[in-house]
Amino acid sequence: MARLDGKVAIVTGGARGLGGATVDVLAEEGATVLIADVIDEAGEARATALRAKGHKAEYHHLDVRDADAWAALVDTAMHAHGHLDVLVNNAGINISITIEDATAQQFRDVLEVNLIGAFLGTKAVIPAMRSSGGGSIINIASNSTQMVLPLTTIYGASKSALANLTKTTAVHCAQRGYNIRVNSVHPGAHETEMLTGGTGMRPLDIPQVKALIDAIPMGRMGQPRELGKVVAFLASDDSSYMTTSELFSDGGLTVVSFGGDPALRG
Ligand SMILES: NC(=O)c1ccc[n+]([C@@H]2O[C@H](COP(=O)([O-])OP(=O)(O)OC[C@H]3O[C@@H](n4cnc5c(N)ncnc54)[C@H](O)[C@@H]3O)[C@@H](O)[C@H]2O)c1
Repeated sequence: MARLDGKVAIVTGGARGLGGATVDVLAEEGATVLIADVIDEAGEARATALRAKGHKAEYHHLDVRDADAWAALVDTAMHAHGHLDVLVNNAGINISITIEDATAQQFRDVLEVNLIGAFLGTKAVIPAMRSSGGGSIINIASNSTQMVLPLTTIYGASKSALANLTKTTAVHCAQRGYNIRVNSVHPGAHETEMLTGGTGMRPLDIPQVKALIDAIPMGRMGQPRELGKVVAFLASDDSSYMTTSELFSDGGLTVVSFGGDPALRG
């Protein structure tokens, strides 16, 4: 019996990166995974590859900013599977910019995906999870909630707000007796396209990323599957007494000082 056998999970931004690796791990652990993303080709390819290996995965187009699309996806999941057990709010975008250079529109754009997207998803799944007997919601925040850099002005604000939304939702659900646990995961530097900004460059060739990697006590970036395994733990009944938690998976990066490395000043 695999740890997530019988569970139905939605992973937003599940076509690639940390979300993609999370999809793979959840499916390998027995869950039926609904990949929700806006990059349809990559999402379909991931679902097809998992099915070819005997796992249960489907791709669904979902822009997390769209409340109607959320309602439709949850409806589809409940009709097809009869229950919904796990939501991973992973979809996210980043604009690395200081307070002086950032525009209000850039701030709104990041909040729409990173914060309001997770808010809409959470609201959409709570009734379905209640009728399923409970569930686990995992919000992918960031170590930027604690590690303060000038360039994370917008991104850090969005993720700190997401961590707080995690806790208010968790306490609400617990006090109402919904059996819905809500926790946040705070990745440090992981090797994905978000970190390289779609430049196609090697992480070590980007000064800001190199400075981050140099500061990591474990001396390396995280691999996406390592993060997926943390999420799988929170999705599973192995974490049955955990709600409101913040799990940092960062190789020790968050607690070390940068000494004002010029590459990170922006
Ligand atoms: N990579 C890191 O080092 C790192 C560190 C801390 C936190 N995170 C967080 O982890 C999560 C995944 O990041 P990643 O590194 O895999 O990035 P990524 O850019 O590789 O993947 C993000 C995914 O989200 C999807 N997405 C973007 N906007 C969307 C929308 N409106 N609706 C639906 N899907 C949308 C993208 O298509 C993509 O598949 C993000 O929330 C990010 O903030 C990443």
